[in-house]
Amino acid sequence: MRIGVYPGSFDPATYGHLDIIRRASRLFDKLIVAAMVNGEKRSAFTMEEKVDFLKRMTRDIPNVEVDCFDGLLADYVRDKGACAIVKGLRAVSDFEYEFQMALANKKLNPELDTVFLMTEQKYLFLSSTIVRDIARHGGDIAEFVPDEIRMDIMNKLDQTK
Ligand code: PNS
Repeated sequence: MRIGVYPGSFDPATYGHLDIIRRASRLFDKLIVAAMVNGEKRSAFTMEEKVDFLKRMTRDIPNVEVDCFDGLLADYVRDKGACAIVKGLRAVSDFEYEFQMALANKKLNPELDTVFLMTEQKYLFLSSTIVRDIARHGGDIAEFVPDEIRMDIMNKLDQTK
């Protein structure tokens, strides 16, 4: 069985992430979407909230499993018996950082490859940071995140209420 791992901060997950999840789910027998800790970022949402959001938005994709992990991605992928890490690339600006992480992960686990999927054009501008910022100011995030999780995001972040 070919298992892929799609890791990320997912703070919160967006339609851009969902697009990558749907497409990657067709490339592997099983895709594990793993909410992980990015040491460079402070999270607005708890791990439990992130996992709950991801579970709700991927309910209809049978070969997707949602998990969370606080540790090294290379170790996690080995433990899960996965053959590849999946990442979405939005722009050239993402590339340097992602390239660096892919090489570091390969050093830590030489059998491990990172597969990059190009973000669909309509989501090129989208990021969790933008979603959080719009939500904090009471803006409309309907076009950026699935309906299943929109109200929970607004309830937590909207400071105009
Ligand atoms: O959505 P993000 O913030 O770009 O995801 C980055 C993430 C969480 C995948 C990355 O920070 C990570 O892999 N964290 C786990 C710890 C780890 O393995 N760090 C070394 C990466 S080379």
